[in-house]
Amino acid sequence: MRKKIVAGNWKMNMDLTEGLKLAGSIDNYFKEKPLGKAGVILCTPFIHLASVSEILKHGKIALGAQNCASEASGAYTGEVSAWMVKSTGAEYVIIGHSERRTYYHEDDKLLNKKTLLAMNAGLKVIFCCGEVLSEREAKKHFIIVKRQLEEGLFSLTEEQMDNIIVAYEPVWAIGTGLTATPDQAQEMHQYIRTLVKEKYGNDCAKKLPILYGGSCKPSNAAEIFSKPDVDGGLIGGASLKKDDFVSIVEAL
Ligand code: 13P
Repeated sequence: MRKKIVAGNWKMNMDLTEGLKLAGSIDNYFKEKPLGKAGVILCTPFIHLASVSEILKHGKIALGAQNCASEASGAYTGEVSAWMVKSTGAEYVIIGHSERRTYYHEDDKLLNKKTLLAMNAGLKVIFCCGEVLSEREAKKHFIIVKRQLEEGLFSLTEEQMDNIIVAYEPVWAIGTGLTATPDQAQEMHQYIRTLVKEKYGNDCAKKLPILYGGSCKPSNAAEIFSKPDVDGGLIGGASLKKDDFVSIVEAL
Protein backbone atom coordinates (compact mmCIF):
# COMPACT_ATOMS: atom_id res chain seq x y z
CA MET A 1 0.00 0.00 0.00
CA ARG A 2 2.96 2.34 0.52
CA LYS A 3 4.59 4.14 -2.32
CA LYS A 4 8.03 2.84 -3.30
CA ILE A 5 10.47 5.60 -4.14
CA VAL A 6 13.99 6.10 -5.39
CA ALA A 7 15.25 9.66 -5.05
CA GLY A 8 18.55 10.87 -6.43
CA ASN A 9 20.38 13.52 -4.42
CA TRP A 10 22.89 15.11 -6.78
CA LYS A 11 24.39 17.19 -3.94
CA MET A 12 26.78 19.91 -5.27
CA ASN A 13 27.64 18.11 -8.49
CA MET A 14 27.00 18.76 -12.19
CA ASP A 15 27.09 22.10 -13.93
CA LEU A 16 23.92 23.11 -15.74
CA THR A 17 24.84 21.45 -19.05
CA GLU A 18 25.82 18.18 -17.36
CA GLY A 19 22.72 18.21 -15.19
CA LEU A 20 20.36 18.71 -18.12
CA LYS A 21 22.05 15.88 -19.98
CA LEU A 22 21.70 13.51 -17.04
CA ALA A 23 18.08 14.44 -16.34
CA GLY A 24 17.26 14.06 -20.04
CA SER A 25 18.82 10.62 -20.28
CA ILE A 26 17.01 9.33 -17.16
CA ASP A 27 13.74 10.82 -18.33
CA ASN A 28 14.13 9.25 -21.77
CA TYR A 29 14.95 5.86 -20.30
CA PHE A 30 11.75 5.76 -18.26
CA LYS A 31 9.62 7.00 -21.14
CA GLU A 32 10.17 3.60 -22.72
CA LYS A 33 10.02 1.49 -19.55
CA PRO A 34 7.11 1.02 -17.20
CA LEU A 35 7.85 2.34 -13.73
CA GLY A 36 5.13 0.29 -12.09
CA LYS A 37 4.39 1.55 -8.62
CA ALA A 38 7.82 3.06 -8.13
CA GLY A 39 8.21 6.82 -7.88
CA VAL A 40 11.41 8.45 -9.04
CA ILE A 41 12.54 11.88 -7.86
CA LEU A 42 15.59 13.88 -8.94
CA CYS A 43 16.83 16.34 -6.30
CA THR A 44 19.05 18.79 -8.12
CA PRO A 45 20.93 21.94 -7.13
CA PHE A 46 18.74 25.07 -7.13
CA ILE A 47 20.15 26.43 -10.37
CA HIS A 48 19.03 23.32 -12.28
CA LEU A 49 15.46 23.26 -11.05
CA ALA A 50 13.65 25.43 -13.60
CA SER A 51 15.36 23.88 -16.63
CA VAL A 52 15.15 20.29 -15.39
CA SER A 53 11.49 20.92 -14.65
CA GLU A 54 10.94 21.65 -18.35
CA ILE A 55 12.65 18.38 -19.28
CA LEU A 56 10.63 16.30 -16.83
CA LYS A 57 7.33 18.07 -17.52
CA HIS A 58 5.65 15.38 -19.59
CA GLY A 59 7.40 12.36 -18.10
CA LYS A 60 7.03 10.21 -15.01
CA ILE A 61 9.86 11.61 -12.95
CA ALA A 62 9.38 14.18 -10.21
CA LEU A 63 11.69 17.00 -9.23
CA GLY A 64 12.98 18.17 -5.86
CA ALA A 65 15.42 20.60 -4.27
CA GLN A 66 18.01 19.71 -1.65
CA ASN A 67 17.28 22.52 0.78
CA CYS A 68 15.25 25.68 1.26
CA ALA A 69 15.52 28.81 3.38
CA SER A 70 14.30 28.97 6.96
CA GLU A 71 12.43 32.20 6.26
CA ALA A 72 9.53 32.79 3.88
CA SER A 73 10.92 35.81 2.00
CA GLY A 74 12.76 39.07 2.40
CA ALA A 75 16.27 40.35 3.01
CA TYR A 76 18.17 37.05 3.23
CA THR A 77 20.92 37.45 0.66
CA GLY A 78 21.80 34.25 -1.13
CA GLU A 79 18.88 32.20 0.21
CA VAL A 80 16.21 30.39 -1.82
CA SER A 81 12.74 30.08 -0.32
CA ALA A 82 10.38 27.12 -0.39
CA TRP A 83 7.96 29.18 -2.52
CA MET A 84 10.69 29.84 -5.07
CA VAL A 85 11.44 26.13 -5.22
CA LYS A 86 7.76 25.37 -5.73
CA SER A 87 7.48 27.98 -8.51
CA THR A 88 10.03 26.07 -10.61
CA GLY A 89 7.72 23.07 -10.85
CA ALA A 90 9.54 21.11 -8.13
CA GLU A 91 7.32 19.05 -5.84
CA TYR A 92 9.80 17.92 -3.20
CA VAL A 93 12.53 19.27 -0.98
CA ILE A 94 15.11 17.41 1.10
CA ILE A 95 15.29 18.78 4.63
CA GLY A 96 17.67 17.78 7.39
CA HIS A 97 20.34 16.07 5.33
CA SER A 98 23.31 15.24 7.58
CA GLU A 99 25.58 17.39 5.43
CA ARG A 100 23.41 20.41 6.26
CA ARG A 101 23.20 19.43 9.92
CA THR A 102 27.00 19.07 10.10
CA TYR A 103 28.50 21.71 7.80
CA TYR A 104 25.81 24.38 8.15
CA HIS A 105 24.90 23.66 11.79
CA GLU A 106 21.22 23.16 11.08
CA ASP A 107 19.57 22.00 14.28
CA ASP A 108 16.27 20.26 14.93
CA LYS A 109 14.43 23.53 15.66
CA LEU A 110 15.56 25.13 12.41
CA LEU A 111 14.73 21.99 10.45
CA ASN A 112 11.26 21.96 11.94
CA LYS A 113 10.79 25.56 10.80
CA LYS A 114 11.98 24.71 7.28
CA THR A 115 9.69 21.69 7.15
CA LEU A 116 6.65 23.79 8.07
CA LEU A 117 7.55 26.47 5.52
CA ALA A 118 8.00 23.84 2.82
CA MET A 119 4.59 22.35 3.62
CA ASN A 120 2.97 25.77 3.52
CA ALA A 121 4.52 26.32 0.11
CA GLY A 122 2.91 23.06 -1.08
CA LEU A 123 6.08 21.00 -1.23
CA LYS A 124 6.47 17.43 -0.05
CA VAL A 125 9.39 16.93 2.31
CA ILE A 126 12.03 14.21 2.29
CA PHE A 127 13.04 14.49 5.93
CA CYS A 128 16.45 12.99 6.72
CA CYS A 129 17.58 11.50 9.99
CA GLY A 130 20.48 9.31 11.06
CA GLU A 131 23.27 8.90 13.57
CA VAL A 132 27.03 9.42 13.26
CA LEU A 133 29.46 6.56 13.86
CA SER A 134 30.32 7.46 17.45
CA GLU A 135 26.62 7.52 18.31
CA ARG A 136 26.12 4.06 16.82
CA GLU A 137 29.19 2.74 18.60
CA ALA A 138 27.83 4.13 21.87
CA LYS A 139 24.52 2.39 21.03
CA LYS A 140 22.73 5.75 21.00
CA HIS A 141 21.44 5.51 17.43
CA PHE A 142 17.83 4.93 18.42
CA ILE A 143 17.86 7.84 20.87
CA ILE A 144 19.36 10.17 18.26
CA VAL A 145 16.89 9.29 15.53
CA LYS A 146 14.00 9.56 17.98
CA ARG A 147 15.10 13.07 18.97
CA GLN A 148 15.52 14.13 15.32
CA LEU A 149 12.01 12.97 14.47
CA GLU A 150 10.33 14.28 17.61
CA GLU A 151 11.87 17.72 17.34
CA GLY A 152 12.03 18.07 13.58
CA LEU A 153 8.82 16.43 12.48
CA PHE A 154 6.35 15.59 15.20
CA SER A 155 4.85 19.08 15.45
CA LEU A 156 3.10 18.27 12.16
CA THR A 157 -0.54 17.27 12.04
CA GLU A 158 -1.51 13.79 10.89
CA GLU A 159 -2.77 15.34 7.67
CA GLN A 160 0.55 17.06 7.04
CA MET A 161 2.35 13.75 7.57
CA ASP A 162 0.82 12.62 4.24
CA ASN A 163 3.36 14.93 2.59
CA ILE A 164 6.37 13.45 4.37
CA ILE A 165 8.88 10.88 3.25
CA VAL A 166 11.45 9.92 5.88
CA ALA A 167 14.97 9.03 4.78
CA TYR A 168 17.14 7.14 7.25
CA GLU A 169 20.74 7.87 6.39
CA PRO A 170 23.31 6.59 8.88
CA VAL A 171 26.01 9.24 8.53
CA TRP A 172 28.80 6.66 8.69
CA ALA A 173 27.44 5.08 5.51
CA ILE A 174 27.23 8.26 3.42
CA GLY A 175 29.82 8.44 0.67
CA THR A 176 32.05 6.01 2.56
CA GLY A 177 31.32 2.77 0.73
CA LEU A 178 30.17 1.36 4.09
CA THR A 179 26.53 0.36 3.90
CA ALA A 180 24.23 -0.47 6.75
CA THR A 181 23.42 -4.16 6.52
CA PRO A 182 19.89 -4.87 5.34
CA ASP A 183 19.12 -5.98 8.91
CA GLN A 184 20.48 -2.76 10.42
CA ALA A 185 18.39 -0.75 7.96
CA GLN A 186 15.28 -2.82 8.67
CA GLU A 187 15.75 -2.52 12.44
CA MET A 188 15.90 1.29 12.29
CA HIS A 189 13.10 1.63 9.73
CA GLN A 190 10.85 -0.55 11.86
CA TYR A 191 11.72 1.59 14.88
CA ILE A 192 10.89 4.80 12.95
CA ARG A 193 7.56 3.32 11.89
CA THR A 194 6.81 2.41 15.51
CA LEU A 195 7.53 5.98 16.64
CA VAL A 196 5.21 7.32 13.95
CA LYS A 197 2.55 4.80 14.97
CA GLU A 198 2.77 5.86 18.63
CA LYS A 199 2.45 9.52 17.67
CA TYR A 200 0.02 9.43 14.72
CA GLY A 201 -1.59 5.98 14.74
CA ASN A 202 -1.33 2.88 12.63
CA ASP A 203 -2.78 4.23 9.38
CA CYS A 204 -0.28 7.05 9.21
CA ALA A 205 2.63 4.73 10.09
CA LYS A 206 1.62 2.22 7.45
CA LYS A 207 1.41 4.87 4.74
CA LEU A 208 4.75 6.54 5.49
CA PRO A 209 7.49 5.81 2.94
CA ILE A 210 10.85 5.32 4.69
CA LEU A 211 13.87 5.39 2.39
CA TYR A 212 17.37 4.15 3.12
CA GLY A 213 20.40 6.25 2.15
CA GLY A 214 24.13 5.63 2.42
CA SER A 215 26.34 3.99 -0.23
CA CYS A 216 23.34 2.41 -1.92
CA LYS A 217 24.39 1.08 -5.32
CA PRO A 218 23.24 -1.38 -7.99
CA SER A 219 25.06 -4.25 -6.27
CA ASN A 220 23.36 -3.86 -2.87
CA ALA A 221 20.08 -2.11 -3.63
CA ALA A 222 17.90 -5.18 -4.19
CA GLU A 223 18.90 -6.76 -0.90
CA ILE A 224 18.30 -3.60 1.11
CA PHE A 225 14.99 -2.92 -0.66
CA SER A 226 13.82 -6.47 0.06
CA LYS A 227 13.30 -5.60 3.74
CA PRO A 228 9.67 -5.01 4.68
CA ASP A 229 10.09 -1.52 6.15
CA VAL A 230 12.50 -0.24 3.52
CA ASP A 231 10.44 1.54 0.87
CA GLY A 232 13.25 2.62 -1.41
CA GLY A 233 16.37 4.73 -1.33
CA LEU A 234 17.89 8.19 -1.27
CA ILE A 235 20.88 7.87 -3.54
CA GLY A 236 23.93 10.12 -3.60
CA GLY A 237 26.97 9.13 -5.65
CA ALA A 238 25.20 6.46 -7.70
CA SER A 239 22.52 8.96 -8.79
CA LEU A 240 25.12 10.83 -10.86
CA LYS A 241 25.46 8.00 -13.36
CA LYS A 242 22.44 7.18 -15.46
CA ASP A 243 23.14 3.45 -15.69
CA ASP A 244 23.69 3.05 -11.95
CA PHE A 245 20.67 5.12 -11.07
CA VAL A 246 18.28 3.30 -13.39
CA SER A 247 19.49 -0.08 -12.17
CA ILE A 248 18.76 0.98 -8.58
CA VAL A 249 15.26 1.99 -9.67
CA GLU A 250 14.90 -1.36 -11.40
CA ALA A 251 16.06 -3.15 -8.24
CA LEU A 252 13.11 -1.55 -6.49
P1 13P B 1 25.85 8.22 -1.06
O1 13P B 1 24.86 7.38 -1.81
O2 13P B 1 26.84 8.89 -1.95
O3 13P B 1 26.48 7.47 0.08
O4 13P B 1 25.02 9.42 -0.38
C1 13P B 1 23.86 9.15 0.29
C2 13P B 1 23.18 10.42 0.57
O5 13P B 1 23.67 11.23 1.35
C3 13P B 1 21.92 10.70 -0.12
O6 13P B 1 21.31 11.82 0.40
